Order: sequence, then structure tokens, then C-alpha cells
Amino acid sequence: MKFGFLAHPRSALELRTCLPPYGIPFIPFCSNESLKMRCLERGLIKEYFFFKNIDSKDGKSCSGKVFCIYLSPEQFLEHQGRALELMERASNDLKDWGAEVIGLGGLTGVAGSRGKELNDKISIPVTSGNSFTIYSSIKALERIIRVVGADLRDQRIVVIGFPGSIALAIAEILAKKGANLLLVSKRQTSFLKQFLSSINDETDADIEVTNSIDEALNKSKIILTATSTGGIIDAGKLKPGTMVIDIAQPRDVIEQRNMRKDILIVDGGIVSLPDNGKTYCRLFGWQANDIPGCLGETIILALENRREAFSIGRNLSVEKIEEIGRLGEKHGFTADNLRYFKKSISDSHIKTFSKSFKTTN
Ligand SMILES: NC(=O)c1ccc[n+]([C@@H]2O[C@H](COP(=O)([O-])OP(=O)(O)OC[C@H]3O[C@@H](n4cnc5c(N)ncnc54)[C@H](OP(=O)(O)O)[C@@H]3O)[C@@H](O)[C@H]2O)c1
Repeated sequence: MKFGFLAHPRSALELRTCLPPYGIPFIPFCSNESLKMRCLERGLIKEYFFFKNIDSKDGKSCSGKVFCIYLSPEQFLEHQGRALELMERASNDLKDWGAEVIGLGGLTGVAGSRGKELNDKISIPVTSGNSFTIYSSIKALERIIRVVGADLRDQRIVVIGFPGSIALAIAEILAKKGANLLLVSKRQTSFLKQFLSSINDETDADIEVTNSIDEALNKSKIILTATSTGGIIDAGKLKPGTMVIDIAQPRDVIEQRNMRKDILIVDGGIVSLPDNGKTYCRLFGWQANDIPGCLGETIILALENRREAFSIGRNLSVEKIEEIGRLGEKHGFTADNLRYFKKSISDSHIKTFSKSFKTTN
């Protein structure tokens, strides 16, 4: 089966560097703002990558294309009508090529009610890919927790970006595993109250809510973050011994090339394609065969021949998150990668961090 996937540049700089030269004339002379406006008007879409054949450990194969929509992350949130129009055009082009399911990368999975509106507009199913992203983020967290010799049930874990689709499911899964939670939500909504009362019936875990990121970072050393705005955490201010699983694209942790060794920042939701000696891709300058979890979910659906809107909308099912995880493992995906800024995190860094985690409060 063939799949299609929609991606976008993750910053104005990436937009500038990856634009096809014929797309916008005189790029070097445009300010970021004027470049973004011209991209919005022109509505450029281009094939970015072709997966000719992905072979799974289970003997299945599929192929697919990634299309890039040249809008900045903010434009997907501020101009959702235009973004949706371009997403529909790209999806229909992918459908004409033969794609039978469309995956949504980054903020294409947020615009238009998290996949629902696009799914209603086109004749093939759409998935935000959030279920596999959530599965892999939890796997990475559990791996670090094992390495530092801690127990999830003794920890207070901060989840930022509540009640977004990813943060909501992560909070539900961790609460059911018995972790105490501090949820960071910009506002108190009736939805938040409803969630708290339903989850409190299912767990003894202690769940608190705050609207202050600083307060949350002060109270805990384990942070999972998935906001739609990005750039909200200054790594320089983190307490020694803090670990952050940063799922957001663009990142929530402001980029730091030389990471402090007493903290651990992991790019959440990065998975690896089945390891069978082939190099399938080096997307976005990442390591060979590393892909975002949302693309991983789309590929798994294609390998399974499942023409299904697997993950759309705000509320995702924990059962389906576990199901896509099991399918991913069956096909040979690696879900618990520890990467930061495109690279594997070294054993020596993890060792130093581990010491710092154990010796600080
Ligand atoms: N790594 C991967 O493979 C992968 C895959 C899929 C998605 N993602 C990324 O994950 C992120 C979240 O996706 P999603 O589908 O969960 O989006 P979502 O449903 O829109 O959730 C984002 C949440 O973040 C909240 N938020 C925004 N700014 C905030 C701030 N400054 N402080 C606290 N909360 C804030 C939003 O609140 P309001 O609604 O009140 O603004 C919203 O509830 C996005 O960056 C997306 O690109 C990554």
C-alpha cells in the first residue's frame, strides 16, 4: 500500500533554506516576514522525499511520499483556513499518485481540529500520527527511568501542553501507571475539570494543575512537554538532575548545541525504521532511518494495509496507542530512541546525568 505524508519547515530559517529556488524570486533580499507572507500567498507545495520501498521485519512492504507545505509553524495556527486549503491540495495530489492514507506532520496535525476537518474533506483517511508519537515518548521515558534506577510511582511528573492531544493521552497513561502529575495548562476549562474527575476515579495518583511553567519546573525533575507554540523552556534555568522529553515540533526547549551534562533533554517521538541494513532516509539532517513518530504511524498503517483515520481529534484511545506500539514493534521499528539535536545521546552523558538525578532533589 502507498502512503502520503505532509510536512512543513520548523522555523523561518528552515523555510528560507529549504525553499525551492524557483518558488519565490529574490529570497536573499526578503525579510523573514515578507518571505512568510509571499509563501502564504503563493501556496507552494513540493515533493520532499520518496520512500521507494520500506521492508518490515514481518515481511511486509510499502512505499510513500512526503510533501512539504511551505508555511512557517505559526502560519499553520494563525491562518488555519489557508493551511487547510493547501493540506487538501497536497493530499489530493498524493491520492492521485496512489496514496491510500495521509499522515500529518508537525502542525499540519494541529490545524483543522487535529486532522478532523481534512479527513472530512478528502476521500482517503487521515491520521495525525499522534498515537505512535505518544507510545514512543513513553517508551523513551521508561528507558531513562530504568537507567537512573527510579520508579515512576515515586515521581512527580510535569506534563506541559495540557489539554492538547498528546499531553492529554500522556497524562492519562502516566496517571494509570501510578505516577503523580503536575499538569501545565494555560487556562482552566470545563474540559480540564471533567478530565480530572474522570481520571481521579481510575487512579490513586496525585494530580495537580498549574498555569505556571516556572513553578512546574521548580517542583519536578521529570518533564514531558508538547505545546503547539514551541520555545517555552530555557535549558539554562533547569535544575541539575532534570530530564525533559521534548515532543513538540518546533521544540519547546530553546535549542542549545552544547547541552549541560547534569540535565538530559531528549527529542521525544523520534523512532527508527526497521533495521535491515538498508538506509532508507536521512530526513531533516537527522540520523539515517530516524523519522518522527507521526510518520512512523502512517508507515505502520500502510504496512498493515489499514485505510483508517487511526488518530484524529483531541481525544485518543489508550488501547489504540498500545495497539500501534505493538504493531510498530512487530514490524521492527525502534520506539525508545534517545536523541537530541539530531544525534544519539552518549552513554557518558547519560551516566553523568544519572549521578546528578540521584544526588539532587
Ligand atoms: N515528535 C513527533 O513525532 C510529533 C508528532 C506529532 C506532533 N508533534 C508535535 O507535538 C506538539 C503538540 O501536538 P498536539 O497534537 O498535542 O497539539 P495540540 O492538541 O494543539 O496541543 C498543544 C497544546 O499546547 C498548549 N499550549 C500552547 N502554548 C502553550 C504554553 N505556552 N504553555 C502551556 N501550554 C501551551 C495548547 O493550549 P491552547 O489550546 O490553550 O493554546 C494546547 O493545549 C506540536 O508541536 C506538534 O508539532 C510531534
